Amino acid sequence: MCGIVCYVGKRPAAPLLLDGLKRLEYRGYDSAGLAVQGDKGTRCIKSVGKIEELQAKLNNEELPGQIGIAHTRWATHGKVTEENAHPQTDDNGRIFVIHNGIIENYQSLKEELAGEGHKFKSQTDTEVLPHLIEREMSKNGNSLRDAVRKALRKVDGTFGMCILSSDHPGQVIVARRGSPIVIGVGSDEYFAASDVSALRRYTDQVIYLEDNEMAVLTLEGFEMSTFQNERVARSAETVEWEPDAAEKQGYPHFMLKEIFEQPETLKNALRGRLVPGEGVPKLGGLVPVWEKLMVCRHLIIVSCGTSYFAGLVGRYVFEELTDMLVEVELASEFRYRSLNFRPDTAVLAISQSGETADTLAALREARRKGATLLGMVNVVGSTIARETDAGIYIHAGPEIGVASTKVFTAQLALLTCMALLIGRHQRLPVTYGIELIKALEDLPAKVARVLRRADRIEAAAQKFHKYDNFLFLGRRYLFPIALEGALKLKEISYIHAEGYAAGEMKHGPIALIDENFPTVALVPRIASYDKMVSNLQEVKTRNGPVIAVATEGDDAIHELADEIITIPESHELLTPILATVSLQLFAYYCAGYRGCEIDKPRNLAKSVTVE
Ligand code: M6R
Repeated sequence: MCGIVCYVGKRPAAPLLLDGLKRLEYRGYDSAGLAVQGDKGTRCIKSVGKIEELQAKLNNEELPGQIGIAHTRWATHGKVTEENAHPQTDDNGRIFVIHNGIIENYQSLKEELAGEGHKFKSQTDTEVLPHLIEREMSKNGNSLRDAVRKALRKVDGTFGMCILSSDHPGQVIVARRGSPIVIGVGSDEYFAASDVSALRRYTDQVIYLEDNEMAVLTLEGFEMSTFQNERVARSAETVEWEPDAAEKQGYPHFMLKEIFEQPETLKNALRGRLVPGEGVPKLGGLVPVWEKLMVCRHLIIVSCGTSYFAGLVGRYVFEELTDMLVEVELASEFRYRSLNFRPDTAVLAISQSGETADTLAALREARRKGATLLGMVNVVGSTIARETDAGIYIHAGPEIGVASTKVFTAQLALLTCMALLIGRHQRLPVTYGIELIKALEDLPAKVARVLRRADRIEAAAQKFHKYDNFLFLGRRYLFPIALEGALKLKEISYIHAEGYAAGEMKHGPIALIDENFPTVALVPRIASYDKMVSNLQEVKTRNGPVIAVATEGDDAIHELADEIITIPESHELLTPILATVSLQLFAYYCAGYRGCEIDKPRNLAKSVTVE
């Protein structure tokens, strides 16, 4: 959602800040702004719309200075206007604040401050922050650092923020509670951002702020402390991915690049985690809770969107391979359920970003109920990674396209590994383990084979992209893939699509079938094949066009399908991954033919940090 970048160094700040903002564009935003401090004071410029519009304004202005903060806003409180864009300032325009998150008690703080004579210019919750800081400085004579610390004690809600003051030149203060801030350590220069991709081009040395921590960045270095004023010492970590991992590398869109990266991301996710001879995976991240996990018989998976569909596939896999009872819950609904938390319950949060507010809220609720918390996240150092007792990093590299692709397939592979690991300790024979590990090793090559047929999938998209409605059908492991295929199509092409368990078709959706309502059927040659074929016959009888995702060499399906997308034969548990790749490409090409903005679909944000 919103993005934060900050620079303190010896180079002109404005170009670096703009470059950082551009790298955060994928998160989704509607306005942008920056404040740069030079010898002649601090200048602040904001604009509605794309970063290019901010840049155009900048080109007309002198903006010298080697310290600055910059922000992209995704509106929550107040419309998309320049006044509501960040930085927000105090009455005198001397304190500049950029903020991600939500100040929950901003209404009462605003009334209190207004009663003392503070004037507000925006409708944002953020604007109370510079006023609170100003009050602490003017009334109580605090330094900027102490004023920020004291102001933050009055605030309820979540924030990642940067503060610049004209009266305290040469420093930027950053603070965090619930919304990420990472500090980048360069040589004689320092960065801060809400996301490593904004600063990775300039340094690979980073330090993640923890909740209720702040830092003061100056040319001489940075000092970290808690909101209780205790010093914090933490060494920098090295970012493992190269800067060009967050570039398009010649692809027209990040989404296409990320789809095509999947053979590689699967290899990376599985690297060092398969022990073929013993038929058992190795997941070091679970070691801290291994004893508990061994007696755990109840697993609750919480997640949102595409990560939720990964959880749904995971349920079938866990139930197949382990003795665990698995429930999968939409994180946003978790708090409304009165789930049975037996002492042997573990809760697994699945998330690409590791910052999804609903998933975090569900985890915290589970913590209150005494569950063991596990995480499966892609972003190293993210909040979910830090708030769980143990977990598995996905290692798929940065995913920039708003539509999640490569992380989803890596999640499926790792859920299979996790279930196999537990299942081998419970009841699975070594022969089964060896067979599944072999299939996992072969998986990247099979995904590459699906990708080699991209032109066939593009041809299907060319033929079908003008339809306004689609039905996606699958059974068992492929039912969640029908949901995911429909979500991908909706997200990036704005075509209405419904995913259904194929057996449910005759309980309602069949009423929709006619020559204008295509069905995408997941019908590879696995156990559910015959039942799926019957469903397709029902669709054909009603003149519904059919696109079948089928196993290579399945000639029988030709009679029932108008278009066939083939996937290689594989272990049944891994078929969802192969089917997914074909549906990702189908959605991508449909969106392309419809002229949609594929990497930044309207209204969507990459990381959903509000509940
Ligand atoms: O970062 P997370 O995996 O927690 O995000 C969850 C959803 O917001 C995310 O999967 C969303 O549905 C994507 N846009 C799907 O493509």
